[in-house]
Amino acid sequence: MGLNQRFYSQAEEEISRRREINTEKLNLRKREIETAIPEYKAIKREMAKTGEKLYGIILSGDRPHEKLERLQRENLAAQEAVKALLIGYKYAPDYLSEIYSCQKCRDTGVYQNRRCSCFREIVKRLSAEELNAASPIKLSSFDTFNTVFYPDRTDTDSGKNIRSMMERNKNFCKEYAENFHLPCEGIIMQGKTGLGKTHLSLAVARTVISKGYSVIYGSAPDLLRKIGNERFKSDSEADTMGLIQIADLLIFDDLGAEIENQYYVSDFYNLLNSRINAGLPTVISTNLDRAQLKKRYDDRIMSRFTTMEWLIFCGEDIRLNKKYGISL
Ligand SMILES: Nc1ncnc2c1ncn2[C@@H]1O[C@H](COP(=O)(O)OP(=O)(O)OP(=O)(O)O)[C@@H](O)[C@H]1O
Ligand SMILES: [Mg+2]
Ligand SMILES: [Zn+2]
Repeated sequence: MGLNQRFYSQAEEEISRRREINTEKLNLRKREIETAIPEYKAIKREMAKTGEKLYGIILSGDRPHEKLERLQRENLAAQEAVKALLIGYKYAPDYLSEIYSCQKCRDTGVYQNRRCSCFREIVKRLSAEELNAASPIKLSSFDTFNTVFYPDRTDTDSGKNIRSMMERNKNFCKEYAENFHLPCEGIIMQGKTGLGKTHLSLAVARTVISKGYSVIYGSAPDLLRKIGNERFKSDSEADTMGLIQIADLLIFDDLGAEIENQYYVSDFYNLLNSRINAGLPTVISTNLDRAQLKKRYDDRIMSRFTTMEWLIFCGEDIRLNKKYGISL
């Protein structure tokens, strides 16, 4: 069974579990109301007779339409009576109506002959969970991203204050994550090693996940290798490219760290392009500067980069700082 197929059956199972849970919930409510509202039992008994009467009408064949209509009217009246009772006892009028987790498809997983959005949400969540299982997503947050690590002096390249630049980067990412919506533009984090690009992009991932979106995190070498391997195995379990194309947010870490080859460049173009066309953002981090990027990736990629927000990271390697002792 392919990976997508597995997620589909898991999603079907999850939806049928929802149905069971909701039926159980409704049964509990019915039992509760039987004790709380004594009149309810009598009405319920009448309603149960409807089924028997219906059977009688069909069998007898004597003016069935008229009888059916009357039965329908009686049934509706009984339902109204139940609602009135519920209201009288300070319950919501629909307290005994069917309970659905998804009103759109009524927990069937199908809406207007297509998979309902609730079904697709489950598949997306399962696929993101699988790809993120081995990532350090839980470790980084905005709270632990401290700008004290960045020197309070002017950057010689840009002529701007380093700490203020990094404060702006942090604030931009925080706002981006907190107001995350679709469609939206992606981000490029560019700068030397150990300056907090992965840390900050994982903080974005964490916040966006907590808002209920699906996020996939992966490093360029890892994701591109997976995609490359899967291309030659048609019966492959995994469909990394497929999953990457539907995730609400993709964190594509360490672009440029993959080995140089034309297949990787074209896979990267395809995934970036299809995400941009679908209005889905990608957060890319890279050690390469603009000139190096331009040399390595073609114009079509560079042109797509220009639609993204560029954040320049500067300062001194925080990995080293933390190891050999800057004190806060
Ligand atoms: N502003 C910060 N506050 C606290 N810790 C930080 C900060 N920036 C980075 N770190 C920590 O320093 C280490 C290196 O940061 P990170 O991995 O994010 O760097 P990077 O820019 O992604 O580097 P590389 O280009 O090598 O991938 C991590 O342990 C990270 O948690
Ligand atoms: Mg990194
Ligand atoms: Zn649904």
